[in-house]
Amino acid sequence: TQSLQNRHFLKLLDFSPLEISHLLERAAQLKAAKRSGTEEQFLKGRNIALIFEKASTRTRCAFEVACFDQGANVTYIGGGSQMGAKETVKDTARVLGRMYDGIEFRGHLQEHVEDLATFSGVPVWNGLTNDWHPTQVLADFLTMQEHGNGRPLNEMKLCYLGDGRNNVANSLMVGSAKMGVDFRIAAPAAFFPDSTLVEQCREIARESGAKITITESVDEAVAGCDFLYTDVWVSMGEPMEAWDERVKLMKPYQVNQTVMHKTGNANVRFLHCLPAFHNDDTVIGKEVADKFGMNGLEVTEDVFESDASIVFDQAENRMHTIKAVMVETLGKSR
Ligand code: CP
Ligand code: NVA
Repeated sequence: TQSLQNRHFLKLLDFSPLEISHLLERAAQLKAAKRSGTEEQFLKGRNIALIFEKASTRTRCAFEVACFDQGANVTYIGGGSQMGAKETVKDTARVLGRMYDGIEFRGHLQEHVEDLATFSGVPVWNGLTNDWHPTQVLADFLTMQEHGNGRPLNEMKLCYLGDGRNNVANSLMVGSAKMGVDFRIAAPAAFFPDSTLVEQCREIARESGAKITITESVDEAVAGCDFLYTDVWVSMGEPMEAWDERVKLMKPYQVNQTVMHKTGNANVRFLHCLPAFHNDDTVIGKEVADKFGMNGLEVTEDVFESDASIVFDQAENRMHTIKAVMVETLGKSR
């Protein structure tokens, strides 16, 4: 592969299958090096800005720890910056570009992360927008490879259930199309992904051998799957009222033991980008659970806590894959 030096990481559509494979290999190497205490630092003295308009645990910590491990310095910019209120993204980009070597952005608009990339002059990484969550899918694919008994991604079957048009679903569909995954979405018709994007993915799939299936039928979608994946039914930035219509519509797409069994695969594994509503032990989880009489929303507690659940491997892999993205786009060439 060509070097990824100075590239932005804004969405998976911008990357070739070879480049994605390369990032996954690099992440696996960096993970092994960290574990064996032989990690080399490629980002020594680099300064990294992390902009978060939306909340985060995994993504923020993954970027920060990856920077610490690699010898870079970070500034976390949550609330309180001038961006948005008094200063445009374009001006902010030009300011930060004078001080920092790389910028992560998590927020609402994809346009904003694109503007940062256009005007900062330094690599910009998308830590989640309303449209895409590309670093998440790198972690998901690394986790699938680790649990896939040596099989490549193009021999795997993955089903995503629930909100089929959010950032995670979109990114998984594009990543799967690129990497040749047999990918299914089971969702209520109102939550099917954008049809133009589906067409674009099917076009990509023609070359990779991927299969893209979008259906309302859980039975059809999960049959034979190696991995079942779900995400929250209401994403950050959407109003609380959205739960009212969603819970009823999404209930048949909950990942529970019955759905796990419907795969017909005793070794099926459960994935979730997290955070997950798998019980009523959180403020919003309790509010929604009380209102709708459910304990566990998109996934049940028994599946979440079962041996089939590999969600914390996924969470750890956020760090290794984000580190790979930063090292490859910013690190001195090896
Ligand atoms: N999966 C994920 O992006 O988690 P955070 O919202 O905690 O960053
Ligand atoms: N779809 C979720 C993902 C969180 C990591 C959200 O945008 O809130």
